[in-house]
Amino acid sequence: MINAPKGTKDILPQESFKWQFIEKTAREVATAFNIKEIRTPTFEHTEVFLRGVGEGTDIVNKEMYTFNDKGDRSITLKPEGTAGVARAFVENGLFNTSLPVKLFYITPCFRYERPQAGRMREFHQFGVELLGATNPSIDAEAIIVAKTFFDKLNVKGLKLFINSIGCKNCRSKYHQALKEYLTENKEKLCPLCKERFDKNPMRILDCKNEDCKEITKNAPSILDYICEDCSTHFNQVQNLLKVAGVEYTVDAGIVRGLDYYTKTVFEFVSTNIGAQGTVCGGGRYDSLVADLGGNDVSGIGFALGIERLLLLMENTGVEIPNENITDIYIASMGEEGSVKAFELANELRIKGVKVDIDHLNRGIKAQFKYADKIKAKFVAVVGENEIANGIIKVKNMQDGSETAVELQNFINFIVNVK
Ligand code: HAM
Repeated sequence: MINAPKGTKDILPQESFKWQFIEKTAREVATAFNIKEIRTPTFEHTEVFLRGVGEGTDIVNKEMYTFNDKGDRSITLKPEGTAGVARAFVENGLFNTSLPVKLFYITPCFRYERPQAGRMREFHQFGVELLGATNPSIDAEAIIVAKTFFDKLNVKGLKLFINSIGCKNCRSKYHQALKEYLTENKEKLCPLCKERFDKNPMRILDCKNEDCKEITKNAPSILDYICEDCSTHFNQVQNLLKVAGVEYTVDAGIVRGLDYYTKTVFEFVSTNIGAQGTVCGGGRYDSLVADLGGNDVSGIGFALGIERLLLLMENTGVEIPNENITDIYIASMGEEGSVKAFELANELRIKGVKVDIDHLNRGIKAQFKYADKIKAKFVAVVGENEIANGIIKVKNMQDGSETAVELQNFINFIVNVK
């Protein structure tokens, strides 16, 4: 037997209806905000992520599935959705269309990480990218899209944390202050954070190593270093969240793990799913599009992990409706009966009814058992007698009641009753 690769998972029929429901809800919520779907390739030239996500990040340094294709081009399976969307935005000249361009995607992503609950090597994101507006209202809107989605799914127990990590100008002052603060303990930092010290000291605040956490406990706050512009922008985002009744906590420790962020950053975090508690993360990126060769167009967005979301829903007992339940199973007896069942099933399916029939010449008892297993709402029985009498018995499997239906009215009856 060959197993699926470590960190990947088959999504089997007893699970896939949940995915369909989540994806359907994502599409509905996106549509309510005039956000349109974009589908970008599963792999990109590696350059997209080097320039987009950033060469100093864990994703680029350690986690990418990168290989040379047969044409000797360096290719990478997308570790996240934003950089590819920004590449597509530039390549397809979307900046020439009416701004803002509001996009969403549902995509597999690939990161070579150590698998654990909520952390996979292949996982799936629902993401939103709103490009071409700098107003704080669009930052608030991005956060509210995610919040609306969680509310619509009845997800509870997610806390929203927001922060501003400033623009390039204010960040350099902060980096200076942070380095001064850390200098004394630089040698005690983990090897990775020693590297981060020069490349991107802010990332040290995100380190999970206990020593690093202890060292950064009283580090200066980015919020004391952001410029007036960034500070006003952040206050306005907060005012709009208040207007919309969205509860949040400002947490200067939210710095995010990707290089493209500027100003607003945010995370929706759960304490119900173990160590990987961040279900959704996002923020503003004012120079990503330019970094990928486009115009000076800013963006804001988020992505949420569908596996983590499902884990949270399962752990907190949120029901996900199964919309794929078969309406009717048409059991049959004898050759004539099975041909009739086949014919009726066809007619019903054309009218949008979900129908199943026997394909294994099972006895009537076994057919009822199967109908029960697939949770069919109704079962009808068709045999020589039923055809001769022109009457079919339809059993309601929920309450056990039976109705005798004239064969000629059967289709209409089922269409109305299902
Ligand atoms: P991220 O924080 O790297 O941000 O990932 C977003 C979400 O993807 C996480 O909160 C988590 O739910 C899920 N996720 C990440 N890695 C894994 C994994 N190994 N296994 C399972 N789930 C995972 C981004 O990807 C940004 N592109 C978000 C964004 C969009 N920012 C602006 N626009």
